[in-house]
Amino acid sequence: MQSSEIRTRFLKFFEAREHKIIPSASLVPENDPSVLFNTAGMQPLVPYLLGQEHPMGKRIADVQKCVRTGDLDDIGDNRHFSFFEMMGNWSLGDYFKKEAISWSYEFLTSKEEGLGLDVSRLYVTIFEGDDNAPYDQESKDIWMSLGIPENRIYALPAEDNWWSPGDNGPCGPCSEMFYDMDGTVGDLIHEGFLDATKKETVIEIWNDVFMEYEKKDGKVIGKLKQKNVDTGAGLERITAVMQDKKTAYDTDILSDVMNLIKDNAKNYSEKLARVVTDHIRTSSFLISDGVIPSNKDQGYVLRRLIRRAVFKMSVLEFDSHLAERIIDIFVDKYVGTYENLNSEFVKNIWKEEENKFSKTIHEGKKEFEKGVDAFILATTYGFPIELTLELADEKNIKVDLEDFHKKMKEHQELSRTASAGMFKGGLANHNEKTVRLHTAHHLLLAALQEVVSKDIKQRGSNITEERLRIDFVCDHKLTDEEKKKVEDLVNEKIKANLNVVRREMPLAEAEKIGAQMEFGAKYPETVSVYFIGEENPSTSSGRAFSAEFCGGPHVSNTSELGHFKIQKEEAVAQGIRRIKAILE
Ligand code: ALA
Repeated sequence: MQSSEIRTRFLKFFEAREHKIIPSASLVPENDPSVLFNTAGMQPLVPYLLGQEHPMGKRIADVQKCVRTGDLDDIGDNRHFSFFEMMGNWSLGDYFKKEAISWSYEFLTSKEEGLGLDVSRLYVTIFEGDDNAPYDQESKDIWMSLGIPENRIYALPAEDNWWSPGDNGPCGPCSEMFYDMDGTVGDLIHEGFLDATKKETVIEIWNDVFMEYEKKDGKVIGKLKQKNVDTGAGLERITAVMQDKKTAYDTDILSDVMNLIKDNAKNYSEKLARVVTDHIRTSSFLISDGVIPSNKDQGYVLRRLIRRAVFKMSVLEFDSHLAERIIDIFVDKYVGTYENLNSEFVKNIWKEEENKFSKTIHEGKKEFEKGVDAFILATTYGFPIELTLELADEKNIKVDLEDFHKKMKEHQELSRTASAGMFKGGLANHNEKTVRLHTAHHLLLAALQEVVSKDIKQRGSNITEERLRIDFVCDHKLTDEEKKKVEDLVNEKIKANLNVVRREMPLAEAEKIGAQMEFGAKYPETVSVYFIGEENPSTSSGRAFSAEFCGGPHVSNTSELGHFKIQKEEAVAQGIRRIKAILE
């Protein structure tokens, strides 16, 4: 079964069970500065898991793009990818354990509607209970009623079977499904099962989370208003299972790119080819979702991915121009599912970054000749240690690797602490400052369109507690006069005490009134639109200073914003400008 068929079957299965299918959200979370990327299908749904009404109802299913870049060094083994697609179905205060587990089971095993997997190769886990919640007897009973033998059901602690997206947000016990990869494993006692998962002879293929609890600052604080279900099945893993491969690199998802590298690399290594394949795919998706290489946040991750890929290509002795062929392959493969992929755009950003990296390498080499040590080269010049070792080898210099790793470790610990501090807001913790900046962001986009050009389109955004940032398509540097006018217009709208109103409406209607959409994003049939300064709210004709597709949250009146100020306007890539602004 091809990966595209698996995706389609999954959505059809849940559509037939009264789920509404929604498109994947962007990889960059909308209005949530606490995380860099969506790392699970549930992330864009957090407000609805916490009780807000979803415009599409209480049963939702989708295939969500996800990026996890925790440890890039893990990439290249059988299981870790920096990008993956997560299939998921949700109950937002509707059905609970019985339906969730039965449907997971049915989708996995049904030949007609699902995947037709072999029941005798399935294993499941449930939560063993702790101070926060009891042993999950209910899930166990449901699994047994479906025919899973008791000796294939393992009760595990919170470490394995309590799922939460971070220190804050909805969470709960989970029940996971595992599959015997080659069909020879058979019955396992508890320890044997744990061992088999470690050795990856059985692998996790689906997770059903029963989200009825909430976490704050890392502690479970009690039950939510509603009982939710959050499930996640990785398309890459399921495809590997269905195509009887050890890893997704050998499936229809990635094998064509792997073969291209194999055929063209003069110094082939499977592991490096996997890293290159993974990083080019992830970069293509990130760039298409508006991320641009930089030294911070999402942009920094993208920069690292591109530079690592370029460097690994040089080790493989693989012509770096072929990266562009690979981008084409990925865009062709995915554009039917994710329409905003644009090959020319991705390639331009890729080439720009590759050129910057070449310059860095050039400078780094000069520093190296002057005797600068490996740690400084790595942290200041982004110089991969492998490259330093190669240069040192040529010149017969010894590099103190132990010292290098020690310093790097300290450095990483420091930056981890710093970023933990930076993201401590936690999911769904929309504090007042970010909410105000978010509303100012809408005003700014509308002002740019009025003052500079009505064709200005947003290309990316990011909000922290301190400032807002908008990337937009524009062919020139803003003049001082334009900047001043934009600033004045935003402040005029703030002073005008405009109401900020959220309305739910059919997608077609929102498009008709010209509400601003995220560049290239796909939206469900019913959307929520925020209006600022409507001319005639009673008719809701949509004539407003600003109308944007958006999930919120926002202030209710612009008078809450204070004084708006542009701090910086700069180019971030060909044809893309960035503005950073604050509220005083
Ligand atoms: N949110 C759950 C996970 O990512 C389903 O595993």
